[in-house]
Amino acid sequence: MMKSLKRVASLKRSASINRRALNVTSPRGLSVLSPRISRWSGVSRLFHVLVVIGFVISSLIAIGCGYMFVLPSLSQAFYGYGASKTNVSLSSCNIFNGSWVLDDSYPLYNATECPFVEQGFNCLGNGREDKDYLRWRWKPMDCVIPRPDVQSILGMLRGKRVVFVGDSMSRTQWESLICLLMTGVEDKKSVYEVNGNKITKRIRFLGVRFSSFNFTVEFFRSVFLVQPGGMPRHAPKRVKSTLKLDKLDNISSHWVNSDVLIFNTGQWWVPGKLFETGCYFQVRNTLKLGMPISAAYRTALGTWASWVERNINTNRTRVFFRSFEPSHWSDQTRRFCNMTQHPLSEARGRDRNLFSDTILEVAKNMTVPVTVLHITSMTALRSDAHVGNWSDSPYTPDCSHWCLPGVPDVWNEIVLSYLLTGYRLHF
Ligand SMILES: *[C@@H]1O[C@H](CO)[C@@H](O)[C@H](O)[C@H]1NC(C)=O
Ligand SMILES: *[C@@H]1O[C@H](CO)[C@@H](O)[C@H](O)[C@H]1NC(C)=O
Ligand SMILES: *[C@@H]1O[C@H](CO)[C@@H](O)[C@H](O)[C@H]1NC(C)=O
Ligand SMILES: *[C@@H]1O[C@H](CO)[C@@H](O)[C@H](O)[C@H]1NC(C)=O
Ligand SMILES: *[C@@H]1O[C@H](CO)[C@@H](O)[C@H](O)[C@H]1NC(C)=O
Ligand SMILES: *[C@@H]1O[C@H](CO)[C@@H](O)[C@H](O)[C@H]1NC(C)=O
Ligand SMILES: *[C@@H]1O[C@H](CO)[C@@H](O)[C@H](O)[C@H]1NC(C)=O
Ligand SMILES: *[C@@H]1O[C@H](CO)[C@@H](O)[C@H](O)[C@H]1NC(C)=O
Ligand SMILES: *[C@@H]1O[C@H](CO)[C@@H](O)[C@H](O)[C@H]1NC(C)=O
Repeated sequence: MMKSLKRVASLKRSASINRRALNVTSPRGLSVLSPRISRWSGVSRLFHVLVVIGFVISSLIAIGCGYMFVLPSLSQAFYGYGASKTNVSLSSCNIFNGSWVLDDSYPLYNATECPFVEQGFNCLGNGREDKDYLRWRWKPMDCVIPRPDVQSILGMLRGKRVVFVGDSMSRTQWESLICLLMTGVEDKKSVYEVNGNKITKRIRFLGVRFSSFNFTVEFFRSVFLVQPGGMPRHAPKRVKSTLKLDKLDNISSHWVNSDVLIFNTGQWWVPGKLFETGCYFQVRNTLKLGMPISAAYRTALGTWASWVERNINTNRTRVFFRSFEPSHWSDQTRRFCNMTQHPLSEARGRDRNLFSDTILEVAKNMTVPVTVLHITSMTALRSDAHVGNWSDSPYTPDCSHWCLPGVPDVWNEIVLSYLLTGYRLHF
């Protein structure tokens, strides 16, 4: 930049020197025409002044352009500097190994002021009175997650598509990200759902546009990622529907041209959502009646992995897969929560999860880079942060979902720190 600025300056200077040379020679050679010449020289002096003014102005413009050009990368560099000062070298730090620390600068937004928090997750709004659960920051053992600088993130996302795919846990993270980003937007009306839809539990697609920044944050509901099918012919009577483990969900083409793509699946892979509703697994044209859920999950993730490898240009799209989010029910009947006021100090077995292990294994095997958001163990400690009794239906406690603001904000802070320090990103 400095070099090209200097070149512009020296070009201008040599141009004005040439004019001065002309100015000097012309009166002498054309002395007969002196009145005209003096007029000429007057014009030429005026011209000289104009050239000097032009030079000053164009220099100012050049410097201004330089600033406009340099500043975004400066602010990013500054961010990077801040990040490296706090050792957020994500490649060398296991960001998911750490502890929760109280931090009065949390929460990051007010759910009541964010139209994209669904009622069921707004715990304060639904009457929760203890507030400590709002103030925990995740502190990795060997590094610090930088506080997201909302303005630079809004700038970074200009012209981009951020896409969440999965179950209601992805919807929560989608809501959280929108609310985080909206704190940096003055005109809240400039952020809207593109079809004017309200958030509901079964809606297939929600897309929120940040119109002043020309980007969208989208959610596709695909609770299994693979394709549900109807009742197969010649099947035993108990089979009412199938899950086609070898086919990705039929809306998957909408996920392709995105810049950030965040998947999850897990909560629906339970007998109560599958066999007990008459849903069995299918691979190609074969019913797999005896296939255990763990094997089916592995097969489905294999389908997902080859879909990503075939369809996603990872030069453009940064792919994440969030690992399983532990719940805190008091027993198998899922009628009560085992909630606390503060995070647990140890995860009591909830930190390991078969689905999460499968995700890690499958991701490691892939030929393209994907980042596993391995939030299982850190999230297992947050028995204080569930919706619990403070959902929108007071008689059915919810020990699976999380209050907003809350834990999903931290998942997003981790995503954002990957994006901000991502060496491969064209941001
Ligand atoms: C940052 O990393 C350097 C070397 O990797 C280490 O010496 C230093 O103690 C770390 N600082 C913090 C705040 O963790
Ligand atoms: C976290 O780090 C500690 C100390 O290095 C180690 O003992 C522990 O196994 C790590 N936990 C995870 C989940 O990686
Ligand atoms: C959130 O915003 C609402 C409405 O503006 C306000 O009444 C409430 O006190 C705020 N809550 C917190 C925790 O700041
Ligand atoms: C908005 O972003 C899209 C996609 O990157 C781009 O094609 C379009 O030109 C942008 N529009 C404006 C007004 O910047
Ligand atoms: C996609 O599958 C859903 C069922 O999951 C079905 O209702 C819908 O019609 C299918 N769409 C297309 C385009 O095949
Ligand atoms: C991605 O980038 C690499 C290196 O720049 C290049 O070799 C490759 O062809 C690119 N892939 C696609 C699909 O654009
Ligand atoms: C519920 O929490 C209590 C104390 O926090 C603990 O002793 C107990 O083991 C927990 N029960 C379950 C099922 O996690
Ligand atoms: C990883 O790849 C190896 C070799 O292709 C294969 O044997 C293994 O089953 C794969 N693992 C998973 C989890 O896909
Ligand atoms: C939630 O409500 C149930 C039933 O009223 C009660 O037994 C339980 O203690 C409540 N849980 C919390 C965490 O307040």
